[in-house]
Amino acid sequence: MIEILNPAKVARARVTGALVAEILQTMKERAVVGTNLLEIDAWTKEMIEAAGAESCYVDYAPSFGSGPFGHYICTGVNDAVLHGLPHDYRLADGDLLSLDLAVVKDGIAADSALSFVVGKSRPPESVALIEATERALEAAIEAARPDARLGDISHAIGTVLTEAGYSVNTEFGGHGIGSTMHQDPHVANQGRPGRGFKLRPGLMLALEPWVMADTDELTVDPDGWTLRSSTGCRTAHSEHTVVITDDGNEVLTRRRG
Ligand code: MF3
Ligand code: CO
Repeated sequence: MIEILNPAKVARARVTGALVAEILQTMKERAVVGTNLLEIDAWTKEMIEAAGAESCYVDYAPSFGSGPFGHYICTGVNDAVLHGLPHDYRLADGDLLSLDLAVVKDGIAADSALSFVVGKSRPPESVALIEATERALEAAIEAARPDARLGDISHAIGTVLTEAGYSVNTEFGGHGIGSTMHQDPHVANQGRPGRGFKLRPGLMLALEPWVMADTDELTVDPDGWTLRSSTGCRTAHSEHTVVITDDGNEVLTRRRG
């Protein structure tokens, strides 16, 4: 089902989006050398609850995972790129950390992800991966207009990632979002311009380019959730929730930092 939000629901989506942005910004600031992934999970839980919101993850049991996720945020370190299950691990200088968070508040969800390097070192390969997903996300946002089609967004993402020298995996991508986190339509991270569903005001989408340095193949951990590059190479992921408006879109999960 494709959900179209009325203006009252868009107003609520702004509140949820701002909350997701604030939690992610806070976790980015707290994720320093020595921080344990389980601390990030616990802090996220506290912030979600303090805001009167609910996790979209803790009870989530989709076909692509194994049982309920059981945690509040996805934490992917280095080669772990999607659905990273928080576990007992302390961050080290130079770790590439991807955080992905979705919550629902007053019946409306928002979903966002970011990647960054922990500590002081700036490994060039990691910086390039992160910047490629951020550029692809901005290109996707640019393409998300009421006169465009889904394929225009997919094409925008795929073009940036491909031109940056990466091959694109299309098993997981963006998605519709509204009263629940994962809805139709699927937004592939590669596609043909001018094809697919016509965008329209009130459609809310989570756009999420992600990339792996030297492969397009994923492997799943024994935990049944964490997806990592099959070669062990580094990976990155950037995501925002946007709503299509009459003359373009509004990004609901922009961070202040
Ligand atoms: N928020 C992720 C996405 O961007 C999905 C995480 S699902 C979970 O679509 F179960 F792993 F939490
Ligand atoms: Co998402």
